[in-house]
Amino acid sequence: HFASLTVDPAFRVGPVDPRLYGSFVEHLGRCVYEGIYEPGHPTADAHGFRGDVAALTRELGVPIVRYPGGNFVSGYNWEDGIGPVASRPTRIDLAWRSVEPNHVGVDEFQRWVGSVGASTMMAVNLGTRGLDAARNFVEYCNHPSGTYWSDQRRAHGSLDPYDIKVWCLGNEMDGPWQIGHKTAEEYGRLAAETGKAMRLVDPSIELVACGSSSRAMPTFGSWEATVLRETYEVADYVSMHAYYQERDGDRGSFLASAVDMDAFIDAVIATADHVRAVGRHRKRINISFDEWNVWYQTRFVGEKNLSISRTPRLIEDVYSVTDAVVVGNLLISLLRHADRVRIGCQAQLVNVIGLIMTEPGGPAWRQSSYHPFALTSRYGRGTVLRLEPRGPVYDTAAHGEVPVLDAVAVLADEPSGGVTVFAVNRDQHQELTLDVDARSLPSLTSASHVTLSDDDPDAVNDATQPNRVVPRQLDPPKLDGGRLQAVLPPLSWNMLRLT
Ligand code: AHR
Repeated sequence: HFASLTVDPAFRVGPVDPRLYGSFVEHLGRCVYEGIYEPGHPTADAHGFRGDVAALTRELGVPIVRYPGGNFVSGYNWEDGIGPVASRPTRIDLAWRSVEPNHVGVDEFQRWVGSVGASTMMAVNLGTRGLDAARNFVEYCNHPSGTYWSDQRRAHGSLDPYDIKVWCLGNEMDGPWQIGHKTAEEYGRLAAETGKAMRLVDPSIELVACGSSSRAMPTFGSWEATVLRETYEVADYVSMHAYYQERDGDRGSFLASAVDMDAFIDAVIATADHVRAVGRHRKRINISFDEWNVWYQTRFVGEKNLSISRTPRLIEDVYSVTDAVVVGNLLISLLRHADRVRIGCQAQLVNVIGLIMTEPGGPAWRQSSYHPFALTSRYGRGTVLRLEPRGPVYDTAAHGEVPVLDAVAVLADEPSGGVTVFAVNRDQHQELTLDVDARSLPSLTSASHVTLSDDDPDAVNDATQPNRVVPRQLDPPKLDGGRLQAVLPPLSWNMLRLT
């Protein structure tokens, strides 16, 4: 197998918004409790946050974290999470049929998110609540002082406003499972009026309107068109959510999940631009891909009828090498659309379909998928270059004929940073020899090659073998006269750095 591509700084997609490397913390299962927060854990700080999880989060390079849900937010009273912890109510969270003790609320979360060097992307409840609760929440978080809610925040110890810039107008309101599910018309009007009021409290905020909760939703497309027609003036972004899994042993289709993600993004861009044209709007609506990952949802079905319990082990998928390669490929798809996808939130950070796993009182470790995420977040900063790779194709049941190679290149902002090519070989059995032509960047003289691949594509990390799956440095390919040749192992995610 041979493939080739040309890297040329003249052909730019656009700058990478660092928020593309965001993540998501929901009050779900063990993401908050026993995940980021566990008072009494040997590594816990004075506020009860796990130091080991915070360190792994910092290493990931996550600049923004969506919070507090997810489906959870559609039944959440944000006021339950403020004030003295001992007097906060314990509630039933109907989204996940769990007991929510409200030990972590906005003030605690802000402390944690600052400690990991990130900012918050806050969601408001448009399921059971609406405009009034949302505008009060913005006042609590962002107004300096001298009003009821801002002075409440100050009384709770935070004198400076949190200055939370990005706010989600609800979550997956198109989904019949959502508490307070709405039609596109109902949601669009509510989101428009709620967003208007929130922005009157703080004109500097950015707002995300809910798009479809997946491309497979029966209302997909018409939902976006109706919602954006109602919210075009107030919204800055429309959300996208997508989860992928291997079905019926069809690994070839699963490995090409990014083909579906590409098509989904292209369709949402087309819909948003259609609404722009019809409405004679000047601004463009960009995309907040604020939930994406591999998620074995078919395994989850059996967990849904659990009795109401505290900190249940929900949706704790364990990821293989194959899953990690797909996660790396989904990041390639997001980068390829960097001109329109400005925010991305890998879902979720800890335990729940997590990059990081924990045991209560015990260790925290990196799942296989942690590695391509951390490396892309670290080196995929700068300007995305448009590539036109050439190479073999293969047939899939789910996506038709797809390329064996998928790749994207990012040109660093500093000249010494060079170019990084992220590339996936989707062939399960054969190596792929990749020719890179970088003659238009004559200052680049050396190269390195990191791969995530394994003789056992089902290998995973767990508490007993936390480093079973890690990236490997291969022999550096020779960069000769602006050209290099790298051999991508079968079923592999790869990072080629040209400096
Ligand atoms: O990330 C898990 C769940 O997936 C979220 O709560 C919801 O928004 C989506 O359906």
